[in-house]
Parts: sequence; structure tokens; C-alpha cells
Amino acid sequence: MAARRAVTFTGIRFENPFLLSSAPPTESENNILRAFEAGWGGVVVKTIGLHPVVNVVGAKTKFFRTTPDDNHVSMKKRAGAALHGSWNWELISDKPLDWWVPRIRRIKAAFPTRVVIASIMAGSGTDKELKAWQTLTRAVQDAGADGIECNFSCPHMDRKDMGSNIGKDEGLCSVVTEAVKEVSRIPVWTKLTPATQDIVVEAAACFRGGADAMVSSNTFPSLPLIDPESLEFEINVDGFVSTGGMGGPAILPMSLANMVRMTQAFPDRSFSGIGGVSDFSQALSYFLLGAGTVQVCTAAMLDAAVGPNVIRRLNAGLDAFLERNADKGWTSVEDFRGLRRDRVKLQSQIRRPDGDGYAGGYEPVEGYAAPDEVALKA
Ligand SMILES: Cc1cc2nc3c(=O)[nH]c(=O)nc-3n(C[C@H](O)[C@H](O)[C@H](O)COP(=O)(O)O)c2cc1C
Repeated sequence: MAARRAVTFTGIRFENPFLLSSAPPTESENNILRAFEAGWGGVVVKTIGLHPVVNVVGAKTKFFRTTPDDNHVSMKKRAGAALHGSWNWELISDKPLDWWVPRIRRIKAAFPTRVVIASIMAGSGTDKELKAWQTLTRAVQDAGADGIECNFSCPHMDRKDMGSNIGKDEGLCSVVTEAVKEVSRIPVWTKLTPATQDIVVEAAACFRGGADAMVSSNTFPSLPLIDPESLEFEINVDGFVSTGGMGGPAILPMSLANMVRMTQAFPDRSFSGIGGVSDFSQALSYFLLGAGTVQVCTAAMLDAAVGPNVIRRLNAGLDAFLERNADKGWTSVEDFRGLRRDRVKLQSQIRRPDGDGYAGGYEPVEGYAAPDEVALKA
């Protein structure tokens, strides 16, 4: 059964199509080794840069939770609350390139058949910064990384020429991708920001620059809520906060929408889906819309930091799905990838009810909730 989980994505063979995304689960050698022991097909290493990184004080990741009683979304622990999303304002890895290079080498030596993608980030707009992208590329590929993920997507960098500010500018997307491709011997993926008008524009620019795959989503720009008692943001430093990034279940539907925009625009290209995945049912939506691999962050952080139960559920879910659909001749992800991509249409192309079935604005009961007795009698 394990062999049927294998996929080839941008020319790289994965034992299974599930990766830990670039984030705290992949910020150390120890975590990555544990992740491979747990069964992940690949990891995207926490983004590596050349510039100094100093994070704000305090916890790096917080979790929004909500309850059925009041639908209030809060980071405060409350009985009966369920996960809504993660929130963070962490920067990229605060470990320098020299720290990462021997570790990537050791990780690949320990797990040669597992995939290590190195996420990298530098600035843009000057030749010096483009050279920094190339320095990073050469270093991680010489260390044995199987691929590169260009981070054009972190929503809260402390420099204007970095992260999602590149991902919002199609010119920069093209130029930086081209600079990386100029020196890379391994596949180059670009991770795009969802904070843009039309992600297809930036995806097209990256493909023009030579990218081998698009990755989406990074976290969505967002704020913690203001506590109604103290009137302070639930996370703040000296009373101040900046927008950070939201991940987890809350972003899944939005991330799926971006995925299908891209897979419809470029049906023959490669895509890696991220956002709100914790078991196979969510990963399946990404596959059915055309993604070839799926990445996970929030769910893994909440599961012993590297997601041993999450990867077990993902693999078991894929096995069971293939088993259930064996009569259709499906033996791998490739057999059902993209099967629902063309079911997403413009609203104007969706059939309207005809004849007596349509009551327009004259429905006996208006609104979205189930009708109650009082309203029915009125
Ligand atoms: C604390 C934290 C740090 C992150 N750091 C990075 C990063 O360095 N580079 C990157 O590309 N994405 C980073 N991400 C984004 C995740 O890789 C992922 O795209 C996002 O969390 C959505 O996936 P999820 O819904 O599974 O959490 C970070 C996310 C979190 C929560």
C-alpha cells in the first residue's frame, strides 16, 4: 500500500505527498529528524535568510478558539472551545545560513529518500539583494536540498522589500524567480501571498521567471482581537501590535479558492496546497482541485510539534480512499488529481431554478436560520 502513496512532483519523488510547511515544526534539525521518523514525505525548512532577524518578545504562535455559545473568537482558553485558527507574527529563521548548511547535509544523510525543500528569502530591488537570493540558492543546493521554495509570502516582515511585499508585485516576482533559476540546479517553487487582488497575476509572473511550482497559502494578514475588559489587544508589546498571519481551519475555504484560480489558469503546472489541513478530507479537496502535494503547519504544531498523529491520519486516509475507489481503477493521487477543478464556475454560469421552484424575494420566511414558530405565524 505504501508504494501507492508515492508521487513525483516537479521531478522530485516523494514517498507520500504530505510535507510539513516552512514554520516552527521545521525550525531545527531535531524537529525535522523527528518529522521523518513520524513518516512525513518531505519538509520545507523554516525560511532561511542572510539578514539579521530579531523577533518581538513573547510567544511566537497563539491559537484562536471559539465556542458554540457565543461565537466569540479569542486566544483565551475557554472550556468547550474549538480551534478556529493560529495567529503569529514570527519572522523567518533567526539561525544564520552557516548554521543551516551542515544541518541540511546531516538530515539528508540520515534520510536520503525523504525530501528536504529549503525555503529562502532575501530582499529585492537591488542587485545586491538579487545576489543574496543566489548565494542562498547555491548554499542550500550544495548542502543537498532537493528543492527550493522562494518565500514571497510572509505577511509581516520588518522590511518593505521582503516577503509578501515581493508577492504583491508581479515585476519583483518575475525578477527574483529568474535570479534564483539562473543558479539553481534543483526545482524552484514559489510560495505566494494570499493578500493580493488576483493571485493568478503573481503566479503567471513567477512561471514567466521559470518557477517549477506555486505554493499557496501562507498565512492571511490579521489582528488579534481587543479584550472587551482591558481594551488591550490579546497580544501586544507595550500596548502595540502589528498585523500578523492567520493559519489553520479558518483559512481553508479561502485558500482553496486561490488554489482553484491558479489550477484553472495553469492546468498543466504543479501546485502545492497549504492551509487548514489536519486530516485527509481537507487534503483531498486540494488534490481534487489540482494540487499535487499538500503541506501542514498549524495542525502539526498542536500535535507534539511535528504532527506524528497528523501524518498517520493523512497516510491512513489516503490508503482508505484508494481502497474505497479501487473499482474506478485509481491507484495513486495522480488518478484523481484535478477531478473537481472544472466544477468551479463563474456565478453567472450556475443554473438558476426555473418554474414554480423559485419564489425570489417572496419566500414565506426570510433569513438564513431555521424558521421559528413565531415567524411562521406572523
Ligand atoms: C509561527 C509560524 C511561523 C511561520 N513561518 C513561516 C516561514 O518562516 N516561512 C513560510 O514560508 N511560512 C511560514 N509560516 C506559514 C506556514 O508555513 C503556513 O503557510 C501557514 O501557517 C498555513 O498553513 P496551516 O493552515 O497549516 O497553518 C509560518 C506559520 C506560523 C504559524
